[in-house]
Amino acid sequence: MIISSPGDFREAARRKLPPFLFHYIDGGAYAEQTLARNVADLSQVALRQRVLRGSEGLDLSVDLFGERLALPVILAPVGLTGMYARRGEVQAAKAAASRGVPFTLSTVSVCPIEEVAPAIERPMWFQLYVLRDRGFMRNVLDRAKAAGVKTLVFTVDMPVPGARYRDAHSGMSGPNAEIRRMVQAMTHPAWAWDVGARGTPHDLGNVSAYLGKPTGLADYIGWLAGNFDPSIAWKDLEWIRDAWDGPMIIKGVLDPEDARDAVAFGADGIVVSNHGGRQLDGVLSSARALPPIAEAVKGRLKILMDSGVRNGLDVVRARAMGADAVMIGRAFVYALAAGGEAGVSRLLDLFEKEMRVAMTLTGARSLSDLGPQSLA
Ligand code: GLV
Repeated sequence: MIISSPGDFREAARRKLPPFLFHYIDGGAYAEQTLARNVADLSQVALRQRVLRGSEGLDLSVDLFGERLALPVILAPVGLTGMYARRGEVQAAKAAASRGVPFTLSTVSVCPIEEVAPAIERPMWFQLYVLRDRGFMRNVLDRAKAAGVKTLVFTVDMPVPGARYRDAHSGMSGPNAEIRRMVQAMTHPAWAWDVGARGTPHDLGNVSAYLGKPTGLADYIGWLAGNFDPSIAWKDLEWIRDAWDGPMIIKGVLDPEDARDAVAFGADGIVVSNHGGRQLDGVLSSARALPPIAEAVKGRLKILMDSGVRNGLDVVRARAMGADAVMIGRAFVYALAAGGEAGVSRLLDLFEKEMRVAMTLTGARSLSDLGPQSLA
């Protein structure tokens, strides 16, 4: 199919993937209202058109956590990315590195830290949940450090998993899930050959390295569910802040009070996020949550935003509302499923093209020219 816009990858991914995988990435929690609002609210942010401002030679790069990013875009941590393309985390990380942006490896990736980090020149970022098994947390932190990771992304909006009702219908979970997944794989032969047969082991690479035994898709849901820690509070993060010498980012902040607490905690950054609408349905969209948070922290830490970013124009909107950079999750996984490493590279090219047009037409020469004055 013809890919001419970032949005085209979603349909390409839908055709290629067994439904349980498409719906797992595409879906959200409960009635998926926050998921829909993330996209709708961001798309309604109106930019100010400015003319005759001589914005030639645009600079789209940004300095963040001691790194230079060619674009203010980071690939977000997405569990099971390696089920979407053969050794998918490696392919996505390579595409990100070749385009000069960071890739964040999820705790619950298919490819382990030790497989992804050596495949790219650029240090990857690593994401961690706060889990009951502190031994596991220490183990992955040590391994991440040994692999050259500097920037740690701490996901804090998952003390309990949100109910994703689509998963039970799609075969990701629910009755006869294993058989249903097998039938779906057989009816999607391109995926079955590329990922199903040649992309093994289909493990939770980081977890099985720690447990010393293979972990499969069935364990994914069980291990995660059994390991979430609803008792978690800021004080539980202190040992990690003390043990980790690189930048630490708190992902999943949606409220200005929590953003102020992140400043007080000493975080280097936050991600304004509702986990892509996958946790509590009914909370604010990231587009609506961002401006008051930017106001509350007033430059005291870096602000990333995710949940709803689907194209380059959205990146410009997020910058105008106060984000230093954005994370993209679904957008890159659709592209990865559709076209592997080349698909993700193409997606990032399309993001850049859209950003260039939007910045030219808003009279911005560099990212620092984007701010509240860019909003209509
Ligand atoms: C895990 O973080 C998920 O959103 O599925």
